[in-house]
Amino acid sequence: MKTVRNAAITEWNEEEIIEPISMVETPREICELMVSLISKDSDARILDAGCGKGAFLRVLKEKGFKNIFGIEISKNLAEYCKRITENIVCGDFLRYNFAYKYDVIIGNPPYAHFNDLPSGIREEVSHIAGTKESDIYYAFIIKAVELLEEGGELIFIVPYGFTYNTFAKKVRKYLDGGMEIFIDLDEAHIFEGENPETVIFKYVKRPFTEKSGDKLMKVLRLKDKNASPRRIKIFALKALKERKANELFHYFERKPFSFTEKVWSSFPEFSFTVGKGGEWKKVKEVAKVCVGFVTGFDKAFIIDKNDEESLTESERKLIKRFIKAKNCKGFWTEGEVRYIFTNDIANEEDLRRFPNIFEKISRYKSEMQVRYLPKGKKWFHWQAVRNREIVEKHLNAAKIFVPTLDRSEKNRFSLTYDEVYPSGDVLMIIPHQIDEFFLLGFLNSEFFRKYYLSNGGRRGGRIAFTQKLISEAEIPPFSEEAKQKISKFAKLVYVRRDLRYRNEIERVIDAEKFHFA
Ligand SMILES: C[S@@+](CC[C@H](N)C(=O)[O-])C[C@H]1O[C@@H](n2cnc3c(N)ncnc32)[C@H](O)[C@@H]1O
Repeated sequence: MKTVRNAAITEWNEEEIIEPISMVETPREICELMVSLISKDSDARILDAGCGKGAFLRVLKEKGFKNIFGIEISKNLAEYCKRITENIVCGDFLRYNFAYKYDVIIGNPPYAHFNDLPSGIREEVSHIAGTKESDIYYAFIIKAVELLEEGGELIFIVPYGFTYNTFAKKVRKYLDGGMEIFIDLDEAHIFEGENPETVIFKYVKRPFTEKSGDKLMKVLRLKDKNASPRRIKIFALKALKERKANELFHYFERKPFSFTEKVWSSFPEFSFTVGKGGEWKKVKEVAKVCVGFVTGFDKAFIIDKNDEESLTESERKLIKRFIKAKNCKGFWTEGEVRYIFTNDIANEEDLRRFPNIFEKISRYKSEMQVRYLPKGKKWFHWQAVRNREIVEKHLNAAKIFVPTLDRSEKNRFSLTYDEVYPSGDVLMIIPHQIDEFFLLGFLNSEFFRKYYLSNGGRRGGRIAFTQKLISEAEIPPFSEEAKQKISKFAKLVYVRRDLRYRNEIERVIDAEKFHFA
């Protein structure tokens, strides 16, 4: 056991020292931005968790903070940081037995999924985060919150995932009500070689009784992911100081995120539950939302026109037509992708009765065998075929497809009456108690997009349409007249392939004057 002079850390187990884990250096300007979010004075006890080469420690020292500490798992890096301060310990932040708490914990923790971690750390991560599906940074956040003094500040730069991932629920519980600043950096090119969706946040650990206070959280969202760290620093600080948007950041204020919110979104709250009375419907009450079929290895199953010509009659019966994201043009679909559908073939012997198909698929046998397949599935089957019954029941009906992940500026809900299936990269919505054109117009509106984004339908720079979020999305009580107009304009877009009628839909929705919370 060693003690480190002045350090608030008391144990040091030599055996634990290993190589760096997920070492990526934070640019200086980002460290400067984060250090300037500290509201404590220069005597504050500050810990850099996973201090790497000391990027944060250096800036902290320059800014005059006197009690700075670092912990780093890699021996070499820990030694390196001793040039900046002697208060460095080499150890595992997650398992370390800290003697004191801290006024500030700052840093860029490692990001790595549970499965990619060394075994000892893995156990600690699942123990702290309560799941084997955790990322190591979830455990870093939880441990850091525990290690803060009351009133202490946690300032981290981390991937965006903890704001929506089901397995990060415990993290959101720990941060409940204490978020003061949330800077969504989208996929800005901050780190060398990697562009994860990143956020910088500042959390303040307040006693529970103060959590309901009326302190607002400041939310910034980057407009240009190509912005340099220098511009990010300058314009983030400007937005925070002036409390308003600028050329690089959107800005708004709201109550701090609460654990009870399903997802934490950096888009303004946008809900129309206040205001106009009338009948509220969820999409799932008027339509069925289905996920697409997943092959797990498209190359083996997609069939082009040339291949198709050489197939026998019975082989052709195995071909099904699918809509993929690229076929969703917004309002209408264009083209289709043809796949060989093998899930009704029970065994390899039966598959051999379709010699051309057998020949094509078995070329990829080794790749297909390593796919994750549910029990009972053969190597030549599709990976996941959910909602098949309902999809097939409605093959002749109106169907609306939408890409599950989309970078387009406008929603691309696309209607078709063709006998087509949903591929894995789209959702398929089957309207049953609603006019399909009204639903199409509504889902493609700016109004719905804003509402949807504020409810968390976002991954990095993209909008994510999930079965759950779409099913739960609400349709406000439009007047009959408005519904008919929306339906009429959506039909015009669809029939004439003319997107100009989109604006008319927007105008009709605006005229309904829903009030937003
Ligand atoms: C993303 S890097 C950031 C380094 C530095 N703070 C910076 O911002 O430039 C994360 C650092 O945490 C260290 N690390 C990873 N797991 C750790 C653990 N369990 N305890 C302490 N340090 C750890 C890594 O070795 C790496 O140096």
